[in-house]
Amino acid sequence: MMFDPDLKERVRESADIVEIIGEHVKLKRVGTSFRGPCPFHQGKDPNFSVSPTHHSYHCFVCQESGDVFSFLQKHLGFDFPMALRTVARRVGIEVPTADAHRSGPDPREPVREALAAAAEFYRWTLWEDAAGAAARDYLDSRGVDRTLADRFGIGYASGAPATRAHLSALGITDDRLVAAGLLIAAEDGGEPRLRFRRRLIFPIFDGASHPVGFGGRLIGPGEPKYLNSPESAVFTKRSLLYGYNWAKLAIRRDGRALLVEGYFDLLRLVGAGIDAVVAPMGTALTTEQAALLARHTKQVVLMYDSDGPGLKATFRAGDELLRHGLRVRVVTLPDGDDPDTFVRAHGRAALDAALDGALDLFDRKVQVLERTGWFGDLDRKRTAIDKALPTIRAARDPILRELYVARLSEVSGVPVATLLREVASAEPGASSVGASPEPVAPERARTGVRDRTAERAERAERAERAMASGRRGERRRSATDVGAGAERALVRTVLTARGTLERVAEQVDPATIRDARYRAIYEALLAAGADATMDAVAAPLAPDAIAALQAMLAEGTMEAEPAQAIADSVARLRVRALVERLAAIDRTMIVATDAEKDELLGEKTRIMAEVRALQGRGFATYGKSRRGVDH
Ligand code: GTP
Ligand code: MN
Repeated sequence: MMFDPDLKERVRESADIVEIIGEHVKLKRVGTSFRGPCPFHQGKDPNFSVSPTHHSYHCFVCQESGDVFSFLQKHLGFDFPMALRTVARRVGIEVPTADAHRSGPDPREPVREALAAAAEFYRWTLWEDAAGAAARDYLDSRGVDRTLADRFGIGYASGAPATRAHLSALGITDDRLVAAGLLIAAEDGGEPRLRFRRRLIFPIFDGASHPVGFGGRLIGPGEPKYLNSPESAVFTKRSLLYGYNWAKLAIRRDGRALLVEGYFDLLRLVGAGIDAVVAPMGTALTTEQAALLARHTKQVVLMYDSDGPGLKATFRAGDELLRHGLRVRVVTLPDGDDPDTFVRAHGRAALDAALDGALDLFDRKVQVLERTGWFGDLDRKRTAIDKALPTIRAARDPILRELYVARLSEVSGVPVATLLREVASAEPGASSVGASPEPVAPERARTGVRDRTAERAERAERAERAMASGRRGERRRSATDVGAGAERALVRTVLTARGTLERVAEQVDPATIRDARYRAIYEALLAAGADATMDAVAAPLAPDAIAALQAMLAEGTMEAEPAQAIADSVARLRVRALVERLAAIDRTMIVATDAEKDELLGEKTRIMAEVRALQGRGFATYGKSRRGVDH
């Protein structure tokens, strides 16, 4: 909503800022201004100054400053239009209503009403209705009592048809329920479905404490465990943080925010008396969420699950926060714990100890790398440095960056100057740092299968980026392309000349074949044996592998000399591996000591000799049979 800037100025200048702030802060006149304890960092001394002449306030300690509007926004959680209206009303200036600026009332209002009414109904169901019994037991089993639950407005969506009738009686029509994401209209004009059924409901609020959506945890068996409201005009998950509306004042007061993963983690910490805590809702921390935190604090403490995915999410979120100029520390909980289970089992004192033991994000990263021996041998050292570099690059604060480089130099033995060059050399794909937003983060996949898929996708993406960059990449790409052709040629030869299977099996490990389709076909051949029928070979294959199989069979006869064809393919795959090793050596060389360099040069010489020998075999004639390689 746009307001006339003149209007804003007139209201600001007419307002008695001392009187308005004075309703929230005890102010005393000191010269031309007024002083009091700062409400933003909860100071005790009169470091907070309000100037009637400048129509502004400023805290000398926490540096918070602004005008009467920003005071109401930051201190009371008003949005700007509300702050403007509030002040305008006091000084008797009329602010045109929303209708004067657009063709109708705020279109979000009916949705907000529907959400608020639903939240209330869910709460009633949880505590008063027989349908809420299972959810009450569930909360009880997780050690959440009614007092705590009510602080968060927790409820229960049974999904019973009565839900619609009840809300309809309150004037919330089906249309509004659909717009609010609570009802899913049936495509064929049949009965619409309630989105939340048999779910414990966590209302999610915006910064001004309007309910904007829900997170629902399934009570009982089924999938998915958590379900959120769909994206809508009021619910934009990537810019919301669960708990933010309650936490923001405490975050300013404490000078730091705690970040946890889940709803229950947050409940538990608040229950233990820690208020400055927020949670992203099952997504990797977005740039918008990091920016929101950076508006209120300079420090974030990450307290995620202690499992593998939790650690991965920690470093990802950490780098995002660094990009917003924040200092980031990481709490490590005992294996298998999350903040919820940890605090429930060990209490507040143990939590405080864990918080005291929080490590700086980069130190934590180094610790993980060190513990798994990544700095122990040269090849892994190169990889370890590659893992550390993104965090160094993410650090916006130059002093922090320098500290990180010094630390990495210390643990890796690589000179600072070398590392600085590595930091500066634009990482493939990293050019977007700080500029364009991250690609939309996928929902956090917590099951084993989905995790592996995500990792695979990331690996493929990394490989692609590596290929798309620089000379080093190009050389690798050509080797990779040759390899891809060789994989197909090899599998095709074995497929059409089954007698060769045994010899090939001795020389080629299935893992060498990177194309999942050809690898699957090769593995199926190995499993079925040389005499198996084509149907038996195809039986275990996925559709894409079957398509590849059929394409190869459709090409008909194989080369005249299968033994020669196989030797060529094997040689090409070997060359691919060697060329890749050469590229890896070049990268490792950068971080090697002189003695290590000698060794690497020796290895390089041996590899090049082998590559020359293999190429001398003349398999470069491969191009002739290229037909049909791409499909
Ligand atoms: P429980 O203790 O099992 O209720 O869950 P949790 O709070 O410990 O959550 P978990 O560590 O499994 O996941 C952390 C957060 O990720 C949750 O609070 C949810 O916000 C989100 N999440 C977990 N599973 C899902 C899911 O299946 N779908 C979606 N959208 N979000 C999920
Ligand atoms: Mn958890």
